[in-house]
Amino acid sequence: MNDIIEKASPMTTPTSVTFANTDIDRFAQASGRVAILVGTEGQLDISGRRVNRLTKGALKRAIEAKVDAGLKPGAVFTLAYPTGMEAEAVDVICLPRSASAQKARAAGAQVGKKRGKSEILMALGNSKWAADVTLGVVLRDYQFQDHKTDAEPRTGAIEVMCNDPDAVSAAAAPLLAVAEGTFFTRDLVNEPANVLTTTTFAERLAAMESIGLKVEVLEEDDLAELGMRTLLAVGQGSASPSKVVVMQWNGGEEGAAPLALVGKGVVFDTGGISLKPAAGMEDMTMDMGGAGTVAGVMRAVALRKARANVVGIVGLVENMPSGTAIRPGDVVTSMKGDTVEILNTDAEGRLVLCDALWYAQERFAPAAMVDLATLTGAIIIGLGHENAGVFSNDDAFCNAFLKAAAAENEGAWRMPLGQAYDDLLKSPIADMKNIGGRPAGSITAAQFLQRFVKDDVPWIHLDIAGVASVKTETPLAPKGATGWGVRALDRLVADRYETD
Ligand code: BES
Ligand code: MN
Ligand code: ZN
Repeated sequence: MNDIIEKASPMTTPTSVTFANTDIDRFAQASGRVAILVGTEGQLDISGRRVNRLTKGALKRAIEAKVDAGLKPGAVFTLAYPTGMEAEAVDVICLPRSASAQKARAAGAQVGKKRGKSEILMALGNSKWAADVTLGVVLRDYQFQDHKTDAEPRTGAIEVMCNDPDAVSAAAAPLLAVAEGTFFTRDLVNEPANVLTTTTFAERLAAMESIGLKVEVLEEDDLAELGMRTLLAVGQGSASPSKVVVMQWNGGEEGAAPLALVGKGVVFDTGGISLKPAAGMEDMTMDMGGAGTVAGVMRAVALRKARANVVGIVGLVENMPSGTAIRPGDVVTSMKGDTVEILNTDAEGRLVLCDALWYAQERFAPAAMVDLATLTGAIIIGLGHENAGVFSNDDAFCNAFLKAAAAENEGAWRMPLGQAYDDLLKSPIADMKNIGGRPAGSITAAQFLQRFVKDDVPWIHLDIAGVASVKTETPLAPKGATGWGVRALDRLVADRYETD
């Protein structure tokens, strides 16, 4: 078995950023890229004026042309191979005080995208957006290269020069912690299924003990003992053992009920006996995106030492067809005790989550609960790749999440729940079926989950099938895994669960 598992590859970490006082003498010698700021009317600060002198006015002339055409906040343009400088390019960022954090991040991302392996020397003066620009650079500067044998190590440094480096560094620190959590999620989601098995996934999570998380790995015996038979049913056709990993961050008041984050971690979804078509099946390496996002948020809250109690619970399984796999028509009993008639073995995510959700509530009595899952193809039909589907039993909690997602520019759109949808899950022989038919496929999946949520627990279900991994680049990420939700959930923790 082990010989078919490739060695777990090293992880991608964000390039570390250094902050220092502005030294305009550095621009002449700087190699790589230099980034400076410009106002919408073309105003330059002391750094920009120095670069302009070095380029013998070429910078000003380029800016004037842009100003005439209308220079918009957030716009970035590049002066390639500027005369009088060693630099390969000067990136000119238009970012007035009236811009927004999101504009600043998107502008930084354009610089991060262009850099390749080059160094970046950014001069951000007294801009109020310095930390956000930095986050944008770092988030977009992600490349998943662990399996490229000819990949060169990324050695180029990122340096930020500004008027108050201590203040900018302090403001950037929690953002860079979130970037590291986002990279962790992206790596997990991008990793192929022969590398990221249930076992190596659990190992990568257990390694987070080193940053202060308490991590437990529940093995199949433990899960059987707990009665998690729907979760085990999904993994029973695979050679990889099913696992549940519990990650605790206790940065809040002792004994205060935690926020629980629960993730679907199907390391590969073939559909099982209800086999998926061959075309595109390789995309199902990302079917652990919910678990990957939970892991990234846990990493972020631990790295920035959030003053909150957060528990992350992920169900790690592989959905394979085999002689031991579940069959359509099988009836299994969940940890809650409700029985499920499994009519389609490809509707497996809900079978994993229902036991994980129940376990979260029984063990931790959480203050609130968010689950994340690449749960349905139907959510992609409904919302495309722009928005995750948001389902909730609690308006205030849901609105707090939607607000956090909007602030982080992560698309999220609320969908309805209701008794009529729940009725579609009725089974003639068990307590419920695991599918509700083609109409409203994402909603009936959510209804299934809600059957395992206690009435008094505020709950949000995020269907991230359309947003976890995409085929075209997004403002803050190259194509592939996005890390969607790490920033929104980290912000939800900060807004709603942190004590001062
Ligand atoms: N993992 C899939 C959902 C999915 C589809 C995620 C496309 C990402 C991209 C899920 O397990 C699944 O197979 N859902 C079925 C449910 C159906 C059988 C009721 C689906 O969406 O077709
Ligand atoms: Mn499936
Ligand atoms: Zn799936």
